[in-house]
Amino acid sequence: MNPFENARSIILGTGSCAPENVVTNEDISRRVETSDSWIRERTGICERRVASDGESTADLALEAARKALRHAGVSPSDLDGIIVATATPDLTFPSTACLVQGKLEIPGTFAFDVNAVCSGFMYALKVADSMIRSGQSETLLVIGAEVMSRFVDWSDRSTCILFGDGAGAIVLGKSGNENAAGVGAVSLHADGRYWDLIHVPGGGARSPVRPGEPAGNACTVRMKGSETFRMAVRTLEESVREVLKEEGIGVDDVDWVVPHQANIRILQALSERLNIPLERFVINIDRYGNTSAASIPMALDEAVRDNRIRPGQRILLTAFGSGVTWGSGLVNWTRKSGEER
Ligand code: UT7
Repeated sequence: MNPFENARSIILGTGSCAPENVVTNEDISRRVETSDSWIRERTGICERRVASDGESTADLALEAARKALRHAGVSPSDLDGIIVATATPDLTFPSTACLVQGKLEIPGTFAFDVNAVCSGFMYALKVADSMIRSGQSETLLVIGAEVMSRFVDWSDRSTCILFGDGAGAIVLGKSGNENAAGVGAVSLHADGRYWDLIHVPGGGARSPVRPGEPAGNACTVRMKGSETFRMAVRTLEESVREVLKEEGIGVDDVDWVVPHQANIRILQALSERLNIPLERFVINIDRYGNTSAASIPMALDEAVRDNRIRPGQRILLTAFGSGVTWGSGLVNWTRKSGEER
């Protein structure tokens, strides 16, 4: 008999971190031709956090990780590995996960980054969950962290209004066979034919930043907003339905949807298509904007800590992003999640 047949992963603790520096819509409207009302109505964003000079993705990731470890009652030395989802790493290499591992002073623990941009946390969760289910690992740190503000053209009103910085983390542990508690079905998808819907053209091997040459705007986000919007709504709905089908449950069985926070209108459309009221969505885009891979674990942490998410509930996570990539997953929240451990 396979001893790991019934092994599942459960979330033992959550944590998040946002830079202190708040940038309001009014602040942005002083730099580009836009207005607070346009940004609120078209995106749902009121303000976002922007990292200060010297504050990096690894710094935010580390702080979120420390909070998640404390929340879980797990010490860094108990970790088997660290997976960081980010599209805005501190360095081209080594990985941000290695930088976090170094600061946590746990040499030997494996560490790597996953890049699926705004869907990155779903990808990292699936990898970590699979490692625990297969018996390769028992306790993992999964982080989504971004400093998008350094990759935004602050003179482009169609993108600079959207993004913000932050990090969220979970500690994932191994459960026994506890009535299917923990991470359930997770579906992942990508369609690389649409790589240019949201991309950063420069800084990679195709268009490197060369010594002595100014990086210019090549290292900033380009986005086809309305095409992205339409594709996001369609694929999010499809992948949510796929997960519900795999779990054998209906929309009424879902207590909370914790979505990637890209645009409030995307979430409204998703809510209508799925027939899940928006009141059952955890939404913080008004305060943080789109923090890419950080957005799901940041929203999750907020809802766990203010007790919206409680043991016994079913939590649906769903994301769409550059690649294009998308994915959804179901988490059966357990008593072992958070303070009750
Ligand atoms: O994280 C996952 C990836 N990202 C997303 O999912 C983002 C998806 N897309 C969106 O959220 C929306 O497409 C945007 C918020 C980016 C844009 O909203 P939209 O309703 O799709 O606007 P649009 O791009 O169709 O532009 C409508 C008008 C244009 O003017 P004209 O051509 O109609 O005269 C734009 O130039 O709005 C103009 N516009 C603005 N006006 C004021 C674009 N950005 C702004 C702005 N302020 N910041």
